[in-house]
Amino acid sequence: MIKQIADPGLADEGEAAYRWAYNNMPTLSKTIEKSISRKPLTGRKIGVCLHVTKETSVLIMGLKSWGADVYLCAANPLSTQDHIAAYLESQGVKVFAWRGETPEEYNECILNILKVGPSILMDDGSDAHVAAHDNSQHSATIIGGTEETTTGVIRIRALEEAGNIKYPVIAVNNALTKFLFDNRYGTGQSTFDGILRATSLLIAGKRVVVCGYGWVGKGIAQRARGLGALVTVTEVDPFKGLEARFDGFEAMPIADAASRGDIFITATGMKGVIRKEHISAMKSGAILANAGHFDVEIDVTALENIMVRKSTVRSNLELYELPNKNLYLVGSGRIANLVAAEGHPPEVMSLSFSNQILSALYVAENEGKLEKRVHDVPKEIDQQVAVTALEAQGIRIDSPTQAQLDYAKSWQL
Ligand code: ADE
Repeated sequence: MIKQIADPGLADEGEAAYRWAYNNMPTLSKTIEKSISRKPLTGRKIGVCLHVTKETSVLIMGLKSWGADVYLCAANPLSTQDHIAAYLESQGVKVFAWRGETPEEYNECILNILKVGPSILMDDGSDAHVAAHDNSQHSATIIGGTEETTTGVIRIRALEEAGNIKYPVIAVNNALTKFLFDNRYGTGQSTFDGILRATSLLIAGKRVVVCGYGWVGKGIAQRARGLGALVTVTEVDPFKGLEARFDGFEAMPIADAASRGDIFITATGMKGVIRKEHISAMKSGAILANAGHFDVEIDVTALENIMVRKSTVRSNLELYELPNKNLYLVGSGRIANLVAAEGHPPEVMSLSFSNQILSALYVAENEGKLEKRVHDVPKEIDQQVAVTALEAQGIRIDSPTQAQLDYAKSWQL
C-alpha cells in the first residue's frame, strides 16, 4: 500500500486555507447553499482527479455537503497543497495525493479512486478518464464524468472520435463562465504569480515571449503588458496570430523570438513548442516557464542533454549551465501557476467549480439519459453561474425590453 497523504498533522493549517478560499468563492458557496438541504448527491460515490488546492477543497466540501462520498487524487504530481490534503482527509474525504509523487505513484493514486467504483468521475486533464477507459472494470460503474481543462477536453474528444468513449462527459472547460475567466484571467495572473515567486525579478522592461494565443495565452500576454513587459506572441493559427497583432503584440515564429526573449512562457497545449534549436538560440539568462497542463511544451530532455551542470537557485527555479550560457527553468517545466504558486485565485475558481458541481449534479439527475459523448455544459447552468456571480458581487445589469426581444426575432426593422 503506498502512502496516501504527506502529513495528517497539517489539517489545521489546511482548514484555515479552506476557510479563506470559501470566503472568497461566493458564487460557489451560494450555489452549494441553494441545494444543501435536499442533499442531491446522497449515495453517490464521486471520484475526483483535480489539483488539490484550497479552492478544490471548497468544491469537495460542497460535494460532501450534498451527500456524496468523495475520493480525491491529484491532477499533477507536483501541484498538491499538502495541508489541504490533510484537512480534507480529516473531514472524511478519502485522499490519495501528496506533493512530489513519482509518475508511478501518480498513476497508482488515480487507480485508487477508480477502484472504489465511482459513479461520477471529475477530472482535470483527462488522465483519470483515460485510465478509466483503459480497463473496462474501472469504467463499469461510471454513469458520467466532467472535464475541467482545454487539454483534457481535446483528449476526451479524441476518444469520442475514435468511437471509444464509454460514458457521457461534460466539457466544463467549454462553459463561457469557465474559459473566459479561468483560462484568461486565472492563468494570466497565476502564471505570473508562479514566475514571480520562483524568480522574484522585475517584469517591466523585459521581453516576454508568449507561445500560444488561446484564452490562456491571451491572459498571460495581457498581464505581461500590464506589468510593463514588451510582449511577443508566437502562434501556428493564422487567426490567432492576426488577433495577437491587432491586440497590439508583436507576432513572429518562435525561431525568430528565441534569440530575443528574456522570459518564455508556453501556453499552447501542444508538445515540442520550445525545442533544442530554440534553446540553442536563446540569450544567456533567459527564463523558461510553462503554463500548459502537461510538461511537454518545453523540451526539458533537450535541456538536460546539452547542459553541463544543473543546480537549484531558489524554490522552483533550476539553473541549467550550458557550454556557452545559463538558462533558468521554472517549476521543472510543469504547470508553473500550480507548481510555483497556488493556482488560480479563489474568485476565478469559484466560477469554474460552480460549473463543475452543477455539471456533476446534471450527470446524476440525468442518469441513463445522456448519450455517451462529450456534452457542453447546458446553457442554463452557464447562465445560472453568470447570474449568481453578478449577484454575489452586487453587480446589476440591464434586461432587454419586450420591444427589443421582438426586434431580435424579426427580419423587419
Ligand atoms: N487549476 C488552476 N488553478 C487551480 C486551483 N487554484 N485549484 C484547482 N485547480 C486549478
